Amino acid sequence: MTRILFYLEDYSHDIWRDSLLKVAPGIDFRSYPDWGTPDDGPAYAFVWEPEPGLIASYPNIRAVFSLGAGVDHLTRDPNLPPEVPIIRMGDDGLKEGMAEFVAMSVLMHHRGIPSMITKQKNKDWGRFFAKAAKDVRVGILGFGALGRVAAEALTPFGYQVAAWSRTPKNPVEDVTLHHGSDRLDDFLANTDILVGLLPSTPETQGLLDKERLSLLPEGASIINAGRGTLIDLDALKAHMESGHIASATLDVFPEEPLPSNHPLWGLDNLIITPHIAAITRPDTAAEYVVRNIARIEQGDAPENLLDANRGY
Ligand SMILES: NC(=O)c1ccc[n+]([C@@H]2O[C@H](COP(=O)([O-])OP(=O)(O)OC[C@H]3O[C@@H](n4cnc5c(N)ncnc54)[C@H](OP(=O)(O)O)[C@@H]3O)[C@@H](O)[C@H]2O)c1
Repeated sequence: MTRILFYLEDYSHDIWRDSLLKVAPGIDFRSYPDWGTPDDGPAYAFVWEPEPGLIASYPNIRAVFSLGAGVDHLTRDPNLPPEVPIIRMGDDGLKEGMAEFVAMSVLMHHRGIPSMITKQKNKDWGRFFAKAAKDVRVGILGFGALGRVAAEALTPFGYQVAAWSRTPKNPVEDVTLHHGSDRLDDFLANTDILVGLLPSTPETQGLLDKERLSLLPEGASIINAGRGTLIDLDALKAHMESGHIASATLDVFPEEPLPSNHPLWGLDNLIITPHIAAITRPDTAAEYVVRNIARIEQGDAPENLLDANRGY
């Protein structure tokens, strides 16, 4: 019988157990701390932010499923056994959620909504006439599972969509593709609305520093829904206060929750969302986990296996 060791703090585990049992009625679902003992036989961990050392203390774990697409909550554990495969979440619910969030945010920045929220506080009628979508250049940093669905959500509006990745990709209709660090500066200089969908790796941390942000055209907007380490927040604040960057939406931060005394809370034209751009849905995640356990047990590679060298 397939055994799943589940860990998630602060939320009920019932919906996760019910969703998994609906997809695979024979599953042995064990909710932390009732994981049993390592002698109980092979198991799969399905976790979010487990206590450091927990995975290592269960040598019967064959693979670890991350409850979200990010894996920094696992890899920061110094005792994580390097031989245990880690599988990133890639359920359809996550993709649909990100497509909605990016489409909503791009439309809001294109139509000047963040500045109207600021003006409304001052009873300021100041009107903003947006450009046609076909004249707005949207640049997506990261063209993985989520960057792709974000691009697909945007092209029907007529935006000029471009995307940047580490390695080359096959051509995609209506999306201009770029890759490699030597293309980044030019990419930024030709982007009106920048969408961050990059993982946190040594190469992406601090990538959008003061100089890189200054490459964006005057009046550009930024949406970051990948990882908070991408942007130097002090530099972003300075660029927004000078008006060089007109508006931004930040869903992810280097420290979460964003501390209550952080100066970003009071910044005009900035929309802060509490890491909710794309949330793993129990129903679609259960299908994803059960499907990938079957793949592992058949000797096939699971989807979205973490490449430890790449870091994502
Ligand atoms: N805010 C939220 O609610 C939320 C929800 C889910 C996920 N996320 C975040 O979104 C991120 C993206 O998810 P995903 O599923 O799309 O990941 P993914 O499929 O692994 O794609 C990552 C993309 O980033 C590119 N990339 C990585 N390092 C790069 C570098 N140094 N230079 C240029 N491109 C680089 C990759 O390029 P290659 O393809 O060439 O390797 C790939 O296109 C995740 O890492 C996660 O942290 C956030």
